Amino acid sequence: MLYIYHNYYVVLYVNRIYYMKSSKIVKLLLGYTLVNEFVGREGFNIQQYNKGNYSLFLKQARGENIPALVSEKEILIWLAQHFQNTPLVKRFENDGDVYSLIITAVPGEQAQRMKTAFTKKEIIKLAALALNRLHNTDLSTFPKTQNILDAELDNISSDIAQGRINIDEFTKATNSTPIAALQKLQNQFASLDQTALTHGDYCLPNILITPEKLVSLIDWTKGGISDIHRDFSAIEGSIARNFGQEFIPFFYQAYGIEPQKVDRNKIEFFNLIDQFFYHRIPTQPIT
Ligand SMILES: Nc1ncnc2c1ncn2[C@@H]1O[C@H](COP(=O)(O)OP(=O)(O)O)[C@@H](O)[C@H]1O
Ligand SMILES: [Mg+2]
Repeated sequence: MLYIYHNYYVVLYVNRIYYMKSSKIVKLLLGYTLVNEFVGREGFNIQQYNKGNYSLFLKQARGENIPALVSEKEILIWLAQHFQNTPLVKRFENDGDVYSLIITAVPGEQAQRMKTAFTKKEIIKLAALALNRLHNTDLSTFPKTQNILDAELDNISSDIAQGRINIDEFTKATNSTPIAALQKLQNQFASLDQTALTHGDYCLPNILITPEKLVSLIDWTKGGISDIHRDFSAIEGSIARNFGQEFIPFFYQAYGIEPQKVDRNKIEFFNLIDQFFYHRIPTQPIT
């Protein structure tokens, strides 16, 4: 439970005690209980707070992760006007160099964990329909018109320049040096059709499903305008890892695209971008 003790805000969690500086964020969480915390895949600190049946998620970033959190906040605000079941932004603020986003919890379990309630094909169908809807959303009022890939390639380029890619591991995994791979990406860039809203990390754990088949998409730090193959590449990998390669055609069938219309070169393009992410030397999480 988060409470005040001698002018400190105190959170007890398992066998640890956190003292937090007073801020609007902390005040919003007074009376809540910290029930879960973890460091996300991209270095964000995530905590879940409950009060009765009501649940909030606190996602925090600092340093180079701040722009992604700001972007997630902006996309969530826009998405809430277009999609039901979008996490609602309750608060966004910074305390020194730590940026905090508080969002409401959406119902459901990570899609790959719903195997007892649904068949794998049913789960895949729900994921495909949600993505089709996202890709066909009218973007006339979308605030972030710049495509996401320009910045992504710039980041890769500066990661290489600063020695932040593990060259040996990257080369082993891709048969290409980071510099040659970046060159390849830059050459292919013009062939992409960057006109849709993409999630950017469209994997099963970011798709929450309820037993009533309500679908909610979470984790929008990589969301933005790009080519739809960006999401195809992510979901293909996720389906293969969780359910098996042979289930991928069901995804395209439900999405409504003939498998031969899926551009394998573009899938390769986004797979290669991911390799830079996998072989990036991580920064320190918030302590
Ligand atoms: N708004 C939310 N509603 C329900 N669960 C959430 C919400 N935000 C995060 N979670 C849970 O926390 C996990 C991690 O959050 P996420 O934003 O996906 O960050 P990351 O993938 O970087 O760890 C999710 O897989 C989900 O289980
Ligand atoms: Mg996630």
